[in-house]
Formats: sequence, structure tokens, C-alpha cells
Amino acid sequence: MDDGTEHTASQSDQHSGADPLAPPPEGQGGLLTYNSPLSEARARSLITTAVTHHPRTVVDLGCGWGRLLVDVLAAAPGATGVGIDVHGPDLERGRTLAERSGVADRVTFVTGEAEPYRDAADLVINIGAFQAYRTPAQALGALRELVNPGGRLIFGAEFWEHPPTDAELAHLWEGTTAEDCTDLAGLVDLAVAAGFRPVRTETVTRTEWEEYESGHMAERELWLAAHPGHPQADEVRSALDSQRSIWLRGHRDLLGFAYLTLVGDEARTGGRA
Ligand SMILES: C[S@@+](CC[C@H](N)C(=O)[O-])C[C@H]1O[C@@H](n2cnc3c(N)ncnc32)[C@H](O)[C@@H]1O
Repeated sequence: MDDGTEHTASQSDQHSGADPLAPPPEGQGGLLTYNSPLSEARARSLITTAVTHHPRTVVDLGCGWGRLLVDVLAAAPGATGVGIDVHGPDLERGRTLAERSGVADRVTFVTGEAEPYRDAADLVINIGAFQAYRTPAQALGALRELVNPGGRLIFGAEFWEHPPTDAELAHLWEGTTAEDCTDLAGLVDLAVAAGFRPVRTETVTRTEWEEYESGHMAERELWLAAHPGHPQADEVRSALDSQRSIWLRGHRDLLGFAYLTLVGDEARTGGRA
């Protein structure tokens, strides 16, 4: 509830000008385990498959707070990892997770763009972040260059469950076009065209989407319920209404999300492409 004491800023906050009651930033994901529609059960299975070839080096491009990277390193003793993301606060959270999981000495979190990164690894991860390379095809082409011979890529990306109508597109994020994604078969074909073979093709469940979308919004809905009189309350309410509409009127049952475990097609590409 919004009582008077909550609005009393601490001395240091008053000095720094920060509002200790400010809403959680959009997309912070403080209630989420992963910043993608990924259940812990699916993550465990992805990790089990990914470490069977005993990767020594792992890189996660667009790692967010790097929970999957940290868990992979915990499951692959001796392996070292690099997580890259443009969002510094997520990387801080990743460093804390790594400390708690006992892998801090084997992981480096780097703030920066994924695309210029060039060091190949035995296991490459790119989940929910193909946009760092613009299109899924461009991402798969660039990521192929980063997978060592015999290595793997875990690629997580959106696809259309059915071709979107203009009416459906109108409910999605501004500027979304039908060309932004393919269908699932088309996405796997893009991976094959980039020089991979699909070891596993998995798609998100409705429960995973609901956990993800609700989890993102719940943090700010709970803040709103507790701070109805805050000066930013109207702004947060309106942003949440819009976010909920994009999900429930827009992408629910339209947008799929695939988790592809890919190996390099060494016969076709003659080693790393
Ligand atoms: C949906 S989140 C997925 C995070 C993480 N892979 C996961 O599954 O938990 C997408 C991430 O991509 C990052 N990202 C977006 N553009 C990027 C870029 N050009 N270079 C690196 N990271 C980027 C975002 O900051 C965000 O953390």
C-alpha cells in the first residue's frame, strides 16, 4: 500500500536525486529466471544436450543477465565463458549470479554490441537476440563463423505460427512486418542454409509465454498496486495496458519461439564456413 513513510526518501537518495520509490524499469525482469520464454525444465534439457560434447569455451551473444551461460558453465567444469550484452545492469546481475553459482572465475561479462565479436567457441548461444544482427538469416550466418568445428549453437528466435494478417500486425509492436520472421520450417531452413544441421528443434509452450509475459508485467503491476499515487503511476499504467494489448490482442497464438540446437554441417562447409 502507498503510505506516507514509503515516500520518505533516504538522505543519500535526497542528495543523489534518485527516487527510491521509482517504478521498476520496463523489461527489468526482476521476477524472471530467464529473459526469454524458457522454462527451467527446458533449460536443463538444452544444457544437457549442449554439454555432451564437453565444450571448453562458451560465448553467449545478447546474454541478458546470463543465467543460461552461468548454468552451462556449472554443468561444464573447466569451461570458460563470455557473455556479451549492451545492457550494463543485466550484466551486473549476471556477475552476481556467477558468484552465487561458483563460476565467477570462469566467466567474463562484457558490455557491448554482439556483432563485432569474433572469437569462436565450442558452444555459442544466441537466444532472443537475433536482432543484434538484424535478421535471423544474418544472425545465423554470422554465428556460424563463431562455432568451432564440432561445436554447437543454441539459437532461440521468434517465428510465425501462421502468416500474420494486416489486422494482427496492427496489434503488434509499431513497425512489425510479416517479413520480420519466417514460419518454423523456414527458420530451420535458414539454419541449414547457413551451414548447420538441427540436432533438436523445440518450440515454446503457451505456459512458457505466459510465465514470461506475466512475469515481466507483474513486477510493474505490483509496484502500481503499491504506489497508486506516485507521479509516474499513470505513465506506468498506460505502458502496461499497451504491453498487455500487444501480447493478448497481438502475438498470443501468432508468435512462436523456437529453441534450435544446431551443429556445424562440416561436410558442407569444409570445417568452419
Ligand atoms: C530477450 S533478451 C534475451 C536475453 C538472454 N539471451 C536470455 O535469454 O535470457 C534480448 C537481449 O539482447 C540484448 N541485445 C539487444 N541488442 C543487442 C546487441 N546489438 N548486442 C548485444 N546485445 C543486444 C538485450 O540487451 C537483451 O538483453
